[in-house]
Amino acid sequence: MFENIQPVIADSILGLMALYRADTDPHKVDLGVGVYRDDNGDTPVLQAVRRSESALLGAQTSKTYVAPAGNAGFNQTMERLVLGEGHAALRDGRVRTVQAVGGCGALRLGAELIRYADPKTVVHVSTPTWSNHTPLLSGSGLTLQPYPYLDAARGSVQFEAMLTALEQLPPRAAVLLHGSCHNPTGADLSQAQWRELLALVQRRQLLPFIDMAYQGLGEGLDADAFGVRLFCAELPEVLCAVSCSKNFGLYRERTGALLVLGHSGKSADALLTHLVRLARTMWSMPPDHGAAIVHGILGDPALRGLWVSEVDGMRNRILGLRAALLQALQAHIPQRDFAFIVRQRGMFSYLGITREQVRALRERHIYMTDDSRMNVAGLRRDNLEYFARALAQVLAKR
Ligand code: LMR
Repeated sequence: MFENIQPVIADSILGLMALYRADTDPHKVDLGVGVYRDDNGDTPVLQAVRRSESALLGAQTSKTYVAPAGNAGFNQTMERLVLGEGHAALRDGRVRTVQAVGGCGALRLGAELIRYADPKTVVHVSTPTWSNHTPLLSGSGLTLQPYPYLDAARGSVQFEAMLTALEQLPPRAAVLLHGSCHNPTGADLSQAQWRELLALVQRRQLLPFIDMAYQGLGEGLDADAFGVRLFCAELPEVLCAVSCSKNFGLYRERTGALLVLGHSGKSADALLTHLVRLARTMWSMPPDHGAAIVHGILGDPALRGLWVSEVDGMRNRILGLRAALLQALQAHIPQRDFAFIVRQRGMFSYLGITREQVRALRERHIYMTDDSRMNVAGLRRDNLEYFARALAQVLAKR
């Protein structure tokens, strides 16, 4: 069966992780995979996670299955985290949530639901978008098409071009949006732009599918959810995939959820039955450990307070790094404008350099994806200078 099978090239981000691991240079800098790092270059277990986990280990009496929809307490607390306490859609009983295997599982589950409802649906994705969106969503059988997003010259959203493209879409087309901290560009919609987009989505009767993998790491836990809260307050149907990988640092626990807003409580109930059925065909029951930890944190005021302060700490470190990076780049490369770095949000920025220049940086032990996406959180105060100098050398070579 498999004797003629050919090796396949790893996903660009996974390939880069392997290259970085294999590099033995002590000065190597990992700006590749989207993982938060502290000033020592570590990704420690959050204190709130550690405490919730110890309590869980002490109290857990069984490892039997939880349920195909996952941990009900987790699902409920995630709804409140994403939509905010007292959101109209929650009050109206129109939201159903299914725990998923990380944000990726939630995205795939959403795609499977759309495909079940109408296999001809096209999902429109930003140019560029996270490299795994394409295989993950198209793997369900849906077709993907791009819409303009990044204005590469300004490092911001080319909003008019985006609106013009979305304005052409037929009713029921799905549009994948990044809730905040756009991956890979860091260029987010402003609140005014979310409002304008809402009007278009209503007018064209589009289905928003929001990917929110970085809540809290852009402007704040509430501010980062502005778009999804607005859309869920004003629209009949919304899908939202959320991840606890980054803001809870639970990467390997694969903890995420798909929130679905239905027309009514009744249609939301029907949607839930399909989500459970589809989850059963993919992973049957989700892993519980990460979800139980998150539920332990969000359900306990003291732990929640600790977690919020840790998320604030991660975000503020990234914002501080952005400012310091801009300063270092201005000092070493004064002829080029890098001001977009402090306007962008979340872990990523697009540097806007060529693939050859990215490869030249790699020779200097600095790793980022070929499209020049850099994980700002991978920098440290003590290697900013090294990075800025290396970039100046590489750019001077043109
Ligand atoms: C990233 O974009 O680097 C992260 O979301 C990790 C991944 O799985 O690609």
